[in-house]
Amino acid sequence: MKTVVFFGSARKNGNTKDLLNSFLTNLEGSVEIIDAYRSEISPCIDCRYCWKKRGCSIDDKMQKIYPLIDKADNIVFATPVYFGNIPGPLKNIIDRCQVYWASTLRDDKFEKGSKKGIMFLCGGAPSFENQFTATEMVLEGLFGDLGAFTAGKVYVPNTDEVPVKENFRAKDKAGEIAKNLRR
Ligand SMILES: Cc1cc2nc3c(=O)[nH]c(=O)nc-3n(C[C@H](O)[C@H](O)[C@H](O)COP(=O)(O)O)c2cc1C
Repeated sequence: MKTVVFFGSARKNGNTKDLLNSFLTNLEGSVEIIDAYRSEISPCIDCRYCWKKRGCSIDDKMQKIYPLIDKADNIVFATPVYFGNIPGPLKNIIDRCQVYWASTLRDDKFEKGSKKGIMFLCGGAPSFENQFTATEMVLEGLFGDLGAFTAGKVYVPNTDEVPVKENFRAKDKAGEIAKNLRR
């Protein structure tokens, strides 16, 4: 089982990492972690190269990430929400996945349901309606383009008051998702 994790926090060892670690300690198989803030991935420039060819015209580290996505069984996003959405560096990576959206134009889509998508989202504010809605919409849209279905999600509000480190329920849920992937 191959898993690719996209890590979106500016803080290397904050809430998001604590939540992710609970997942990773229970995960089997190989795992690659893409740390968005430390990956220097350029934004999509809408050059439309991918409308015709299965690839991207920008020659940066994303070229090594595409094959990981192609081969992955599980695609995991672990990120805080910033202003109700995905932090910039991680959004750059998502936008570079336009090549998968364009698979409809090229007619080489991933088989539907061939990958599992997982989301771990943290928010500092106390729980409120739609705290994670925009982020969820972006990620579910991407999962659709990757032929993935959402196989698990943990959303953790109120991290300013109760850090993930002390939130055993949230950590247990993340661990359970990894265990379920073994089946
Ligand atoms: C620029 C910025 C914007 C933020 N916007 C939100 C927000 O819209 N909603 C929310 O609940 N928390 C927001 N937060 C709080 C973070 O989501 C929260 O502190 C989270 O636990 C950080 O994760 P980390 O510890 O992995 O860095 C924001 C934090 C920053 C730095």
